[in-house]
Amino acid sequence: MSAVAAGLEGLVVAETALSSVDGTNGILTYRGYNANDIVNKVTFEEVLHLLWYETLPTQSQLDELNSHLARHRKLPDEVLNVIRALPKSGPPIDALKAGVTALGMLDPEQDSWDQGDLREKAIRATAAFPTMLAAYERLRNGKEPVEPDAKLQTAANFLYMVHGEKQSESKARAFDTYLMLLVEHSMNASTFTARSTISSSSDYYSAITAALGSLKGVAHGGANMMAMKMLLEIGDPNKIRAYVDESLQIKRRLMGIGHRIYKTRDPRVNHLMAWSEKIADEVGDDTWYQLAHNMEVLTNDHPYFTERKLYPNVEFYSAPLLYNLGFQPDLMPAVFALSRIGGWSANLMEQVADNRLMRPQAEYVGPANQEFVPIGERG
Ligand SMILES: CC(C)(COP(=O)(O)OP(=O)(O)OC[C@H]1O[C@@H](n2cnc3c(N)ncnc32)[C@H](O)[C@@H]1OP(=O)(O)O)[C@@H](O)C(=O)NCCC(=O)NCCS
Repeated sequence: MSAVAAGLEGLVVAETALSSVDGTNGILTYRGYNANDIVNKVTFEEVLHLLWYETLPTQSQLDELNSHLARHRKLPDEVLNVIRALPKSGPPIDALKAGVTALGMLDPEQDSWDQGDLREKAIRATAAFPTMLAAYERLRNGKEPVEPDAKLQTAANFLYMVHGEKQSESKARAFDTYLMLLVEHSMNASTFTARSTISSSSDYYSAITAALGSLKGVAHGGANMMAMKMLLEIGDPNKIRAYVDESLQIKRRLMGIGHRIYKTRDPRVNHLMAWSEKIADEVGDDTWYQLAHNMEVLTNDHPYFTERKLYPNVEFYSAPLLYNLGFQPDLMPAVFALSRIGGWSANLMEQVADNRLMRPQAEYVGPANQEFVPIGERG
């Protein structure tokens, strides 16, 4: 019998004190705090402090972190020039890969594994990510980038830099909630990629670039884009049943549904659903929220999904929420990265604190004892 764990399912590859996911009971904790309990009481930056410095911050610690982030939001000219030079046709998450590579090339301590240096890198990159992405988004739409507003934190600043004008308090809060809910999620594919990359004695920026490549996949962070494309394709609540039936017939997955760990409702979904509905009301278009909601109601009652324990995941209501915040589907995987860089960074600090090269094995199943044939005699 093969010893291979397909998809590494069930394998424990690290100890972590950052987050835990109980997929049976639908509980996510950040350093022991139930995400459900703190979600409406803290900001994204407070959760960053929790992950990077191990505690929720005092007010003065939070002020310090916020001003530190603010100092690094404006992009160095070299980085902005790279973003400007990129083709306008590619997926926006690739602009983050290019931008973070340039940021790393400017860092004289690029290879340092010192915990203080890693925190500094995390602050710089987490602060720069929204500015890079907003700049790319505006440039590809033929507009000039907008500089960050020193008075705004991550969520409100990104909305401001993308749209060129300050957005409502509720939109900023909705996006802040999104950022804090997606920031960290145990050994997901991109976090594993980040930890595995740095384990070969590589550097912070290379690990973030690799993680971006993993996040982009439609089974992971690319699922928000695919979920939104699915909703746009359906377009009409009366067509949901036919779309679901056809999907099952042709074995097409419903995007934003199913999870490797959660065999119940993902605890983040309720918050994203509520914000998605609220922002839909605010912008006066509940088409996409309602479509998603109707699809959830249908699948919750459908034996195919209940037998396999397939429920909406974090991407399902993120899609209509992000769309109504003004983000096109192809921007969405990159928007996810604005949050998850916080978790990747914390994982990289944890990995290097007790590193051993990640070097698993493969079971060889190819041919054996082959006879060498010189090139002229090969048929
Ligand atoms: C997330 C995901 C990759 C997890 O995959 P996994 O743990 O490897 O699960 P499997 O591929 O083994 O699927 C188990 C069963 O559920 C089915 N299934 C899983 N997700 C499904 C979906 N979204 N739609 C329809 N069927 C699905 C599979 O076809 C399989 O059915 P089978 O047993 O009859 O063959 C998968 O659920 C998926 O592709 N979801 C859609 C993409 C998505 O939303 N990703 C974001 C995750 S946060």
